[in-house]
Amino acid sequence: MRPRGGAPRYDMTEKTILVTGGAGFIGSHVVRLLVRKYPDYHIVNLDALTYAGNLENLRDVDQAPNYTFEKADIRDMGQLQAVFSRYHPDGIIHLAAESHVDRSINNPAAFVETNVLGTVNLLNAARQVWKDAQEGKRFYHISTDEVYGSLGDEGFFTEETPYDPRSPYSASKAASDHFVRAYFHTYGLPVLLSNCSNNYGPYHFPEKLIPLMINNIREGKSLPVYGDGQYTRDWLWVEDHAAAIDLIFHKGRIGETYNIGGNNEWKNIDLVEKLCDIMDELLGRPAGSSRELITFVKDRPGHDRRYAIDAGKLKDELGWEPTIRAEEGFRKTAKWYLENEAWLRRILTGEYQKYYEAQYGV
Ligand code: NAD
Ligand code: TYD
Repeated sequence: MRPRGGAPRYDMTEKTILVTGGAGFIGSHVVRLLVRKYPDYHIVNLDALTYAGNLENLRDVDQAPNYTFEKADIRDMGQLQAVFSRYHPDGIIHLAAESHVDRSINNPAAFVETNVLGTVNLLNAARQVWKDAQEGKRFYHISTDEVYGSLGDEGFFTEETPYDPRSPYSASKAASDHFVRAYFHTYGLPVLLSNCSNNYGPYHFPEKLIPLMINNIREGKSLPVYGDGQYTRDWLWVEDHAAAIDLIFHKGRIGETYNIGGNNEWKNIDLVEKLCDIMDELLGRPAGSSRELITFVKDRPGHDRRYAIDAGKLKDELGWEPTIRAEEGFRKTAKWYLENEAWLRRILTGEYQKYYEAQYGV
């Protein structure tokens, strides 16, 4: 099915890249970057359009002649095989996943089905289509720092940190990472992996901390901070992540894993207060007024205390570094949500509203 996007111009196609999950938050930034930067590539976006998939995220590139959308579910091998035999992709950048920790606590099986079984289907589809002609091919799996578990006050995750996933989400991502490496060792599939810290920026689904807080501040609703609010995350501007993915896809060494991080640690409570202050300024509200909306609520079960990434390998080997500083990135994000209320409203009237009521009881 090709609802949007021009007819593929195979005559000019140097490479066909299949991006899974391209209608989601990070995937849409990756698709946008690739479509614009590589007019000679054909970018095929494969996405099932779950609650988190939104083709509106791509409306500024979806008419490009080198872009095609395919609605398909990675849980369905038949659908995958049909897409693979139609396009014979040279590269795969795999982002499709169930991605929210709180949802994984409520329904772990859905995370096994998409993140583990779906990834194995994709690995099998790649093996089938590439057979022995794997020269120049790349299967790039996008993963998370959450597979490494939880840090104390000190230290950083490196590529050598042993896996210690503690939520159903991170367990499912860890399992998928293991399968990707197993296909490299067992079948010689040309794989690459990266494990990234928390992303933020435009098109972030409003169930996640930053867009949820921005939206609630805008609406004057309470700001639900889990537990004592002293949990720490390392926040990366999403376009910096997309740039790292582009670099690793093209220049990374086959079989290797690269950690990606923002070098930008924030305790949740400090981050929420910062967002309150930025929003007060942007909305012309009295300084400090939004902070009064902060409400400490019941903690997430098994809540990981701290994540922090050592991205030294990526810097040393490929020269990547984050470009957007925290204050600037949070401000750009808050402005984007204020300027794109219609995008947000369309999401808030859908399935997310039911989830919000179940999660927060309001
Ligand atoms: P997201 O939830 O915004 O998007 C996921 C996309 O995958 C959606 O478009 C959805 O429709 C699609 N999808 C879900 N199930 C599918 C299925 N069965 N078949 C086909 N498509 C399906 O997620 P995101 O935040 O953009 O994360 C993308 C990837 O990056 C995930 O693999 C995630 O684990 C990883 N990651 C995310 C972060 C982060 O901070 N968001 C950090 C590190 C790694
Ligand atoms: P989240 O955006 O869900 O990302 P992750 O769990 O993958 O790191 O949450 C980021 C942090 O914010 C995490 O410590 C949980 C916390 N949090 C809240 O305090 N309140 C909320 O309403 C949400 C969604 C998250």
